[in-house]
Amino acid sequence: MISEPDYTFVSELLKKRSGLTLGPGKEYLLESRLPPIAATYGYADLAALFTALRRAPSPELVKHVCDAMTTNETLFFRDSKPFLALENDLLLAAADRARAGGRPVRIWCAASSTGQEPYSIAMIVDKVEPRLNGTRVEILATDFSAAALARAKAAVYNQFEIQRGLPVQLLVKHFKQTAQGFELNQNIRDRVKYQEINLLDPFPVSWQFDIIFCRNVLIYFDVETKRSVLDRMAKILQPGGCLFLGGTESTLGVTEALVRAPSHVSGVCCRPRDLEMYSSAKAA
Ligand SMILES: C[S@@+](CC[C@H](N)C(=O)[O-])C[C@H]1O[C@@H](n2cnc3c(N)ncnc32)[C@H](O)[C@@H]1O
Repeated sequence: MISEPDYTFVSELLKKRSGLTLGPGKEYLLESRLPPIAATYGYADLAALFTALRRAPSPELVKHVCDAMTTNETLFFRDSKPFLALENDLLLAAADRARAGGRPVRIWCAASSTGQEPYSIAMIVDKVEPRLNGTRVEILATDFSAAALARAKAAVYNQFEIQRGLPVQLLVKHFKQTAQGFELNQNIRDRVKYQEINLLDPFPVSWQFDIIFCRNVLIYFDVETKRSVLDRMAKILQPGGCLFLGGTESTLGVTEALVRAPSHVSGVCCRPRDLEMYSSAKAA
């Protein structure tokens, strides 16, 4: 049983460090996810863990607690339509703009979890590459969770994960079966660079992207945190760039820095000043 002061304290800690807004009545989430952390650090129970967090906890302990509370649910080609839009239209348009500027296309997958999303993007890049007229595509995948990033870098998936969203042709083309599971081929892995990034922290000053995927992470944040993340993302989009949100996410009522891109599936956003470029784009 978690006391009310403990619940309030941990909820505030999570919101401050990772953006996660627990809200009332989610004690069961702490009860199901934190006992292994308490055991690892030698605390007898959750109350002892919370006492340690109140005193001067090591940054490592705080990170582990926040990490354990993140939801890493993901799958290959999640919701399918955004990936079709990327393949049929948005990647080619970004490549045209990048080529004109003599630079590569830069894609950021901002909450990449265990890798299925950035590798879905990488498989599309692999397919579309012959039509990019030599323009390189760089994919940066980031996440708050070190555990999720480690799994993403390993790029080995079990039967259940492989069956979720991955077309069989791509399974045959890009994976080999090993004793550990289905291992993604090196050429696709090499297309993705990983970095640990907390979306609450300022983004590196040099960052500029043509396409940002920030899907199914803002749902865990309150409105002010969503706004802060989206406004900062809008600032690092290249002219004409776009941002992909999750199927249930929208910028409506959150920020005016990004709006739905006309002629595109919901979840594809652009800056208002780039609306004209999207109005003339063909529907995905
Ligand atoms: C539900 S998964 C979504 C994965 C993928 N984008 C998708 O749509 O399938 C949410 C991811 O966001 C990450 N996350 C949560 N809070 C974060 C933060 N403050 N900064 C960066 N990543 C965060 C979690 O670690 C988790 O991997």
